[in-house]
Amino acid sequence: MTSPQFDRYLMIEDVQQTFKTKKGPFIALKNINLNIRKGEFVSLIGHSGCGKSTLLNLIAGLTMPSAGRLICAGREIAGPGPSRAVVFQNHSLLPWLSCFENVYLGVERVFAAGESKKQLQERTAAAMALVGLTESQHKMPHEVSGGMKQRVGIARALAMEPQVLLLDEPFGALDALTRANLQDELMKIMAATQSTAVMVTHDVDEAVLLSDRIVMMTNGPAAQIGEVLAVELPRPRDRVELANNQHYQDYRTAVIDFLYRKQGKPALAAA
Ligand SMILES: Nc1ncnc2c1ncn2[C@@H]1O[C@H](COP(=O)(O)OP(=O)(O)OP(=O)(O)O)[C@@H](O)[C@H]1O
Ligand SMILES: [Mg+2]
Repeated sequence: MTSPQFDRYLMIEDVQQTFKTKKGPFIALKNINLNIRKGEFVSLIGHSGCGKSTLLNLIAGLTMPSAGRLICAGREIAGPGPSRAVVFQNHSLLPWLSCFENVYLGVERVFAAGESKKQLQERTAAAMALVGLTESQHKMPHEVSGGMKQRVGIARALAMEPQVLLLDEPFGALDALTRANLQDELMKIMAATQSTAVMVTHDVDEAVLLSDRIVMMTNGPAAQIGEVLAVELPRPRDRVELANNQHYQDYRTAVIDFLYRKQGKPALAAA
């Protein structure tokens, strides 16, 4: 349980990300170092524009760091792969495919070699049911709401049963009730599959409820990891019970204190 392969399943080493802009190079991230255990749930929290999506894209392998390196399961991350599925901040569905077909495409990519078409369809249908979209599954993306599109993105990522689930504000566009239901489902799935997750969120309660650790980022440019908070609340966690739990409140206060007292408001012009 304490082998390096387990404790340092995902390694982010001295990562820097610089973007070329019209005004010259823009350093988005600087000196990012983080080791994530296998099966751990880590949240990234920080003000808008600090570089959370930039860091998630690096873990996904969608972009390469300007300096440093990222390693997953002992191998350097050199590009995107189905073992690291992403739920994007702006749901990214193919507009010419139905919601079902969008999910099926991901399922096919991972499981087509070993399973029949019927099995692939069953996997897809199960994922649609999980996010409550069975009745709307054959609609086209333009025929469903923003929150429903986001749920299709979540279904697609979960159906691929990735080793690492990367979530960029996955529940941001959802109403409070749907968000709570999906957070509870996600906690159950993570417990059952033991997969590793990195989630970007703006929501302090969501971060405390779901995370083993909360990584708090400083404001950009040249954003860094400010503090890391280990959330040692026992699992399974129950949102109703936790509302009156003093430890839960203390974790919440620590994150709010970092965001609004230590980091204050970022200059909007910089975002
Ligand atoms: N391709 C790019 N070219 C130039 N600058 C970029 C690029 N991508 C991101 N940035 C800049 O890097 C910084 C971090 O952006 P990023 O999207 O990672 O922020 P974020 O923390 O995800 O914000 P939000 O919470 O609003 O989604 C911002 O200042 C942004 O303008
Ligand atoms: Mg973002």
